[in-house]
Amino acid sequence: MNGYQQLIVENKAWAESKVLADPFYFKRLENIQHPEFLWIGCSDSRVPANEITGTQPGEIFVHRNVANMVVHTDLNLLSVLQYAVEVLQVKHIIVCGHYGCGGVKAAMTNHNLGIINKWLRNIKDVYRYHRDEIDGLATEADKLNKLTELNVQEQVTNLAKTSIIQKAWKQHNAPHLHGWVYSLSDGLVKPIFEMPAGSHIDALYEFDDL
Ligand code: CO
Repeated sequence: MNGYQQLIVENKAWAESKVLADPFYFKRLENIQHPEFLWIGCSDSRVPANEITGTQPGEIFVHRNVANMVVHTDLNLLSVLQYAVEVLQVKHIIVCGHYGCGGVKAAMTNHNLGIINKWLRNIKDVYRYHRDEIDGLATEADKLNKLTELNVQEQVTNLAKTSIIQKAWKQHNAPHLHGWVYSLSDGLVKPIFEMPAGSHIDALYEFDDL
C-alpha cells in the first residue's frame, strides 16, 4: 500500500474510534465552530498545533506558514486574522515559533533559495533590528535560538500594528496576544512575550479612525 493510501485507512479508523467513544462527536462539530484561540505557527510538520496543546478539533483556529510570520501584505494571514477576530471572536492569538526552525536558519545565511528568499527577507529584517544583541552571543546555536525568540516577539508586535487588532482592542478589549517558542527536543512550549489587549504600541502605527 502506498503511503498516502495508508492515510485514508488511518482516517477511517480514527473516525470510527471517535464515533465509538461519542456517537454525537461529528454531529456536534458540524453545527458549531467556536474556538477560543487563533494559532499562527510554522508549517514544520513537527509542530502540530492541536497535538502539542492537547486540544481537539473545534478548539483552535489555525494558520501556518514558513517561520510563523505575520506579514502585513499577506492576504492569506489577514483573511484568517479578520475572520478569527471579527467573526469567531477568539480570546487569544498565539504566535508559536520553534527552536531549530529551518526558515529562521536559512534567513541567517546568504544562500539563494529561490522564491522563499522573498519570504525570508522578513526574518532578515528582524535580524537587522536586533543585530547587536544576536551577534554578541557566543555560538551559532545561541544566535539561532535568540533570532527565533525575537522573531516571535516581532510577529506579535506585527499583529498589534494591524487595523484588525487595534479595532478589536478598542471595541471589546480582546484578543490577547501571546508569543511562544516550542522546543523540538522536549516537546515543551516556552512563553516568551505577550501583549494583553490594549497594550501600548508605537504611535507611528496607530490608526486614529477606528
Ligand atoms: Co519552522
